[in-house]
Amino acid sequence: MSDSYSLLILPGDGIGPEVMAEVVKVIDWFQAHRGMSFDIGHGLVGGSSYDAHGTPLTDETMARAQAVDAVLLGAVGGPKYDVLDFSVKPERGLLRLRKEMDLYANLRPAQCFDALADFSSLKREVVAGLDILIVRELTSGVYFGEPRGIHADGNNPDNEGGRVGINTQRYTSGEIRRVARSAFELARRRSNRVCSMEKANVMESGILWREEVQWVHDNEYADVELTHMYADNGAMQLVRNPRQFDVIVTDNLFGDLLSDAAAMLTGSLGMLPSASLGAPMANGRPKALYEPVHGSAPDIAGQGKANPIACILSFAMALRYSFDQGAAAADLERAVERVLADGVRTADLTGPDGGIPVTTAQMGDRIVAALSQG
Ligand code: IPM
Ligand code: MG
Repeated sequence: MSDSYSLLILPGDGIGPEVMAEVVKVIDWFQAHRGMSFDIGHGLVGGSSYDAHGTPLTDETMARAQAVDAVLLGAVGGPKYDVLDFSVKPERGLLRLRKEMDLYANLRPAQCFDALADFSSLKREVVAGLDILIVRELTSGVYFGEPRGIHADGNNPDNEGGRVGINTQRYTSGEIRRVARSAFELARRRSNRVCSMEKANVMESGILWREEVQWVHDNEYADVELTHMYADNGAMQLVRNPRQFDVIVTDNLFGDLLSDAAAMLTGSLGMLPSASLGAPMANGRPKALYEPVHGSAPDIAGQGKANPIACILSFAMALRYSFDQGAAAADLERAVERVLADGVRTADLTGPDGGIPVTTAQMGDRIVAALSQG
């Protein structure tokens, strides 16, 4: 495998372009100091694509995303686009990328950096040292299930307003098994424990989920400890005692909710990266898209207040999962940790007495400087 990697950078909307500019500094550092070579293309997604082309993702950009080793995405959305028709909303661009690239395993680590434990809404002793990984199914379930839509509710005289809104929670065995395998594989490289979450007490799709995860376990991963939990209890346990978990595997919608809750445990949404992975391509690398868990934060866009760390750590995940550069990823993660330990903070992480925050660009510069210090 060559040491040249192709990347498509889609900064998106709001703070996306600002945080992505800091990632580019980090990429440049790895090119200059680690003999890696990145072939970088840029494109539009979300509202910025809608403004330019009338669609949140053009076919041309979709095709380029399919052809590269990894896509790096900033964030999509903003109040300006709230009025748009559902089919052209910024989020549709992101969902199309996930679906057409078939990125079924969404890895959302929630790690509590020691320097930031006091920023969590929970007590330090509950979150210090937290290191969990949520594996969210990303290409199916209620996000994509058919039938869907808003329709007139026939001749139902009891329905004031006269309409019905429909979404379908639908999972096949195959969809469940493949994401379960991802979770078990990841658990083997961590603390070897998987907790699967669904609502098997009310949903047939939840019963199937539980049975199929158990099947994959019994037949292929009996060495990994597997437990099952109803997703509502899972939400409660996440805020009660989050360190009981290692890997959590769950469906698209529960994963959306549970990963936001897990994110907040760590003190700042601005810290959390994610990787969305699909099947291996011809070159052996998985189809992949990396993005911060946070959104486009339009209220602070363009002010240099955004925290670029989630986006930078997403690039660290790209180094690890797409490019097999685990050592480089660890170096980057250590550089982030060191900068935080030195008390360097963007505005989201400065308390009332926290001093003057650094800008987005200054944070990027500090992380690059920490990389150079080795
Ligand atoms: C996420 C986001 C997206 C989702 C939105 C932007 C469509 O909340 O990545 O968690 O719901 O999946
Ligand atoms: Mg979400």
